[in-house]
Amino acid sequence: MQEWSLQQKAAGRKLGLVPTMGYLHQGHLALVRAARRGCDVVVVSIFVNPLQFGAGEDLDQYPRNIEGDCRLLEEEKVDAVFAPSAGEMYPRGYGTFVEVQGTIVEKLCGRSRPGHFRGVTTVVSKLFHACCPDIAYFGQKDAQQAMIIEKMVKELNFPLRIERVPTVREADGLAMSSRNVYLTAEQRQRAVILNQSLGEAKERIKAGERDVLVIRSGIVKRIEECPGAEIDYVEVVNGYDLSDLEIISERVLIALAVRFGNTRLIDNVLVEV
Ligand code: PAJ
Repeated sequence: MQEWSLQQKAAGRKLGLVPTMGYLHQGHLALVRAARRGCDVVVVSIFVNPLQFGAGEDLDQYPRNIEGDCRLLEEEKVDAVFAPSAGEMYPRGYGTFVEVQGTIVEKLCGRSRPGHFRGVTTVVSKLFHACCPDIAYFGQKDAQQAMIIEKMVKELNFPLRIERVPTVREADGLAMSSRNVYLTAEQRQRAVILNQSLGEAKERIKAGERDVLVIRSGIVKRIEECPGAEIDYVEVVNGYDLSDLEIISERVLIALAVRFGNTRLIDNVLVEV
């Protein structure tokens, strides 16, 4: 992979990388299209990274469809798909990890999924070294992940830049996710509460509300009213570094994780005031 990428770059081509875990949907394809517009050659990686799944999480059930994915990527005129095996990425005796520290990894998903972001930053570092992108594309759907990777790229001097792509949603507002296939028909209908409650919160801020506790409790109340929804977290934090806020100013990230049965869904909205 690295040899091919270096050849492309030696020929003067700008290389775009879209890292994914596969089971591709329109959210992933929005990243691919952004890469296609911004770069000369586009690589999509497909790797369900065992290192970012905790014990008891859905690694074994994580949906996979490599052939279907490749068909979609061919239609998008992607130049290469990098789909290594777990054994190639982490051979026996593997022992090197990349870990960002601080508030940015301790809050939100970092709190409920210990070790998750260490797995993400480790695999993304390996993918960057294998694929040598000029630009790597990440979705705003996973806002914390994008922020952590931006910090890693800056602090470890990776010679590339990150581009964030807005969240792609279903017609009713549910953020597209490979995990949506786990939902029953009833849960699927109820899951619109995530986007709805975020949208209402955004409206209240636009209408002048500035108290973080008021905004947060409004969202919690709406979700608690929804049968079958169990809150993992609802947070209203500084949109640059995820630090705590009391009063909303500048840029805030409203992020939440909610469980329907065993399925954990996340969503977020950035609000500028
Ligand atoms: P995965 O969940 O497959 O997502 C791959 C990329 O697609 C991420 O950057 C994610 O933010 C983006 N994405 C997913 N759903 C989206 C949506 N509805 N709209 C816009 N973008 C969306 O995130 C991962 O994989 C992994 O952690 C990875 C970065 C590949 C490292 O293993």
